[in-house]
Amino acid sequence: MFQTRPPWRPHPLSLLDEEVQALVDPGYLVRDGVLGEALSHAVELEARALVARGVLHPAGVSRASVLDSAVRSDEMTWLDRGNSGPATQALLDAMEALRKELNAQAYLDLTKFDVQLARYAGNGARYARHRDAFSDARQNRRVTAIYYANADWQPEQGGQLRVYPAGREPQDLAPLLDRMVIFLSDRLEHEVLPAFGDRIALTAWFYQAGL
Ligand code: OGA
Ligand code: NI
Repeated sequence: MFQTRPPWRPHPLSLLDEEVQALVDPGYLVRDGVLGEALSHAVELEARALVARGVLHPAGVSRASVLDSAVRSDEMTWLDRGNSGPATQALLDAMEALRKELNAQAYLDLTKFDVQLARYAGNGARYARHRDAFSDARQNRRVTAIYYANADWQPEQGGQLRVYPAGREPQDLAPLLDRMVIFLSDRLEHEVLPAFGDRIALTAWFYQAGL
């Protein structure tokens, strides 16, 4: 059993030149081993404890105020420092470090981020192909960073993030423990394939100033 052992060391999150380049072409970047073994397990435990406490609610996509679970059948809640354990707070610190790093290395002007805990219960829950933002929308999400917390995820459990990079073949990315996938929110189309395992993701959406 992994223990949550505060205080966790701060986790610097610096981006290599080729990782910044990957955001443009092919349009996403995948980073494994973001927090390390012990901390990633602790994040998963904390997330699963929130799920067990019943604080998540159906995400859905609202269509005439009816939740359309054919589009999105996970359940979610918003995370902040107040409702997060110490390991999750270390992840929030890493996301803040990522915000600064994206501003410095990718010339973005990201001012803040929201973090969502999403859980696909394993009954074939999915999220149909979509983008997280539209360039003309008021909602100014610029960058999406998805952190997966699923130890021992097996290929037959599905639940991959399928990404559709422009002009390239789609790629399937398994929701493996301690993996982060980063992309521009209004650019990359993606979907979650039906998940036949209890699948946890913690997603940060970074916002740009003044849009
Ligand atoms: C989303 C989303 C992908 C994932 O919440 O917008 O696309 O892998 N999530 O959980
Ligand atoms: Ni999305």
